[in-house]
Amino acid sequence: MSYLVGSPGPNGFGPASTAEDVTRGLNLEKLTIMITGATSGIGFEAAKALAERGARIVMPSLTMKEGLEAKDKIVALTPKARIVVMKLDLSDLNSVRNFATEFKQSELPLNVLMNNAGLSLNDAPRQTKDGLEMMFAVNFIGHYALTNLLLDTMRSTAKDSGIQGRIVIVSGGVYAKFTPPGGIIFEQLVGSKNPYYGLTGYSQSKLACIYHCLELSKQLEKEGANITVNTLHPGAIRTGLVHMKGIKGYISDNLPSFLFKTPQQGASTQVFLAVHPKAEGVTGKYYADCNEYFLEGEAHNTELLKKTLKWADEWISTH
Ligand SMILES: NC(=O)c1ccc[n+]([C@@H]2O[C@H](COP(=O)([O-])OP(=O)(O)OC[C@H]3O[C@@H](n4cnc5c(N)ncnc54)[C@H](OP(=O)(O)O)[C@@H]3O)[C@@H](O)[C@H]2O)c1
Repeated sequence: MSYLVGSPGPNGFGPASTAEDVTRGLNLEKLTIMITGATSGIGFEAAKALAERGARIVMPSLTMKEGLEAKDKIVALTPKARIVVMKLDLSDLNSVRNFATEFKQSELPLNVLMNNAGLSLNDAPRQTKDGLEMMFAVNFIGHYALTNLLLDTMRSTAKDSGIQGRIVIVSGGVYAKFTPPGGIIFEQLVGSKNPYYGLTGYSQSKLACIYHCLELSKQLEKEGANITVNTLHPGAIRTGLVHMKGIKGYISDNLPSFLFKTPQQGASTQVFLAVHPKAEGVTGKYYADCNEYFLEGEAHNTELLKKTLKWADEWISTH
């Protein structure tokens, strides 16, 4: 896929399409959409475009301050925007559980869950307070636990509203090239000696996100829950996530901007999957540039998929 070519794919959208393009003409007033990591980057652009079309946005934020600042920016552009800010730290399973409880107490419906928040550590490994590698914790485990805790609300919203629920999991194309040999090395995910940071650690967390989508989509289809689950690569976008320090940062900051999507373009694929009528009924798929794309390498490793989700279930039930 090339960001330079920019020609639209079969559904009429392509790499140059923005979140605004894919929502043009849609009335989303009936939808409540939760977007993790919407305080900056492509999550913010997704929230902005969806709020403008009338959706109620639930914005779980690492700090209330950042969440409220993001809300103010959107309300300044769209005064009628409905935005609910709540606190959530995806690296902390207690915070995930507290957030889910608080959300359920609010009695809000939930039509769409967009697992967008992400972390890429380029400088040094970091662990959560439970000792888990930080990118695996935020990008995958936190979202996996959050999704499971919100599924009942999504099931009942889909049933009561008659509107198909949608879960959108933001992965990243790097999963195909930079995972360590063996895909995910569980023995080294826990403890201060884990060597995973930079692209290797980031990639294995994004591979796990793909496994989450493939398994959950099957499970929900089998149970007839009327909820789709899809995953995607948003493109290469110059956000805080890809910013590096030192010489690497200098080099990447000086790469020509035509090699990157804008944040508005970067948000389009997840927004398409979240609300576009052409994505209705689509489930268990991987998208890029707003169109279906093929999975490769370890994404087809069904043994590793099973092992990863079993590992995640055990980790969550014991922490
Ligand atoms: N940019 C790219 O080229 C690219 C490529 C492929 C995939 N992606 C994926 O796209 C998604 C969005 O990334 P982005 O590029 O928009 O990056 P970004 O601007 O850095 O946004 C990341 C968001 O995640 C939030 N977040 C980080 N740690 C969190 C935690 N512990 N709990 C809750 N929220 C947390 C951040 O909140 P704070 O601001 O408060 O830290 C921020 O809102 C990520 O999943 C990323 O992996 C991006």
